[in-house]
Amino acid sequence: CSEAGEGGSQEVCHLPRPQRYAAVGQKGATLWMTGLSGSGKSTIAKALEEELVLRGGKHVYRLDGDNIRTGLNRDLGFSEADRGESVRRVGETSCLFSDSGTITIVSLVSPYRDARDAVRKRHEDQGIPFFEVFLDVPLEEVQRRDPKGLYKQVEEGKLKGFTGVDAPYEPPLNAELRLPNMEMTIQECVDALIRVLEAGGILT
Ligand code: PPS
Repeated sequence: CSEAGEGGSQEVCHLPRPQRYAAVGQKGATLWMTGLSGSGKSTIAKALEEELVLRGGKHVYRLDGDNIRTGLNRDLGFSEADRGESVRRVGETSCLFSDSGTITIVSLVSPYRDARDAVRKRHEDQGIPFFEVFLDVPLEEVQRRDPKGLYKQVEEGKLKGFTGVDAPYEPPLNAELRLPNMEMTIQECVDALIRVLEAGGILT
């Protein structure tokens, strides 16, 4: 810590990231899970969180609709502009969490490629590891799963502007990991995610 400027009363504490990571005993990173509603983002994110926290003793935090749309993003809906702003805010939040040494798992539909790429760039510009994970499940399969009954509502004309049906979903072109999870168990998905973190030097 040092005094800020001439006569400044504020203390400035700046911990270089490597020093912080060494002290807290782990590195931070963002795993950004994108895919259609019902593609398994939350289920797989929760299973990964459990494995890393309970078995790996890691500090991990999940950012998803449940804890984001009720608070930080409670003023936002599902227009293109609102979704863009939602992704931007969660992107900034994930930069901060990951900078702090947390493994941050984001699970958002995040349908627009430009918005996701902007988040990637924010991470890269700050030297924070970012891994995009595409939950690659076809529309017919998520419509069949329909865990929240939302696709049925869309079909009945009660819900408009739904991603993948009458609002766009732009799949990633260069995701670090693709999870076609209709062909995989949850554990296989978790194992694949852990391998990505290991290969990225996050779990060493
Ligand atoms: S986004 O596109 O990133 O802003 O969406 P997200 O914050 O992840 O919220 C997606 C969940 O909200 C419900 N929902 C909708 N999804 C897509 N399109 C529309 N119009 C919509 N309206 C409500 C839906 O439950 C999404 O579910 P999950 O399964 O959590 O992705």
